[in-house]
Amino acid sequence: MTGGYRVGVIRGDGTGPEVIGEGLKVLDAVRDDTTFELVEFDLGADRYLRTGDTLPDEELEELRVLDAIFLGAVGDPRVKPGVLERDLLLKARFELDQYVNLRPVVRYPGVQTLVPSHTEDDVNMVVVRENSEGLYSGAGGFHRKHTAHEVAVQESINTRHGVERIVRYAFELAMQPHRRRKLTLVHKTNVLTFAGDLYQRVVDEVAAEFPDVETDYVHVDAACIYFLDSPSRFDVVVTDNMFGDIITDLGAMIQGGMGVAAGGNINPEGVSMFEPIGGTAPSETGKGTINPLAAIGALEMLLRQLGETAAADRVDRGIRAATQQMKSMRAGEMGFTTTDVGDLVVEGAAA
Ligand code: IPM
Ligand code: MN
Repeated sequence: MTGGYRVGVIRGDGTGPEVIGEGLKVLDAVRDDTTFELVEFDLGADRYLRTGDTLPDEELEELRVLDAIFLGAVGDPRVKPGVLERDLLLKARFELDQYVNLRPVVRYPGVQTLVPSHTEDDVNMVVVRENSEGLYSGAGGFHRKHTAHEVAVQESINTRHGVERIVRYAFELAMQPHRRRKLTLVHKTNVLTFAGDLYQRVVDEVAAEFPDVETDYVHVDAACIYFLDSPSRFDVVVTDNMFGDIITDLGAMIQGGMGVAAGGNINPEGVSMFEPIGGTAPSETGKGTINPLAAIGALEMLLRQLGETAAADRVDRGIRAATQQMKSMRAGEMGFTTTDVGDLVVEGAAA
């Protein structure tokens, strides 16, 4: 028996609380004797509108010493766009140095997508998105704002240290038994001749330490074609923060939509935070129509990160059982309610 864990829970806004509820139901069903102490954090739009707080330092320090964090979603139509995203989500990613954004792109059985020719075997990759720098670093500013001569500069910061640690993580992942030992750098080296050059040089250098991993390079625009046209060419994809943000939304679409797309913000030496990547879905909030599988997939990743492989495998079985019974992965079209889908996973996990 493994000792207990302390897991932070940020249910967040919109449909966040509904999907986290299903995730925690599944956790309880798969955890065996392992104890998970859930530490609830009141963070998100309600708290911000009530107190003006987004992520106070005190709570950040509490998050830092947990074993993992399970996050629903943040964002609310009542709050100006960017506030919760920057001062809560991105602040947590940066301050907790969760430098890997790990986004598996997996086609589950029975799932229809917009590309009918894809099979389950075609779509099985993982995007390793750099999560601590690049265009997200916030470097830049305005000059002569609100004048006819206004200048807006937004710089992409890429450090040798930052690039090397994400590339190394991706190579190590490519060597894991469930992967196919292929690493593809996705960038735009034909135009971004500084940042892209740094990425390519680091990949070439680190590749020498991983002779069993085949390396490949694809421009980000071409990657959008290949995701649709020949996704099986990708196993592990490593890319920068901005490109990773964009291509993982496309990745979600070849999985069956945002309802199934999960991600982890990983600090291999610290605390990691797992979330459905689809956002708060305000129009579905409170209706029992939202698909909880992305959050349940995030829970699976959380368990894997903690080394709870058997429990994670059970969640995976449960998800696969659920997708085979659901009509669609889209909110309101699943043929089941949010809680029904959670129940399908629980049943499938026990089988
Ligand atoms: C994501 C989201 C975030 C990002 C936003 C909400 C800041 O789009 O997790 O992909 O850009 O990283
Ligand atoms: Mn995104």
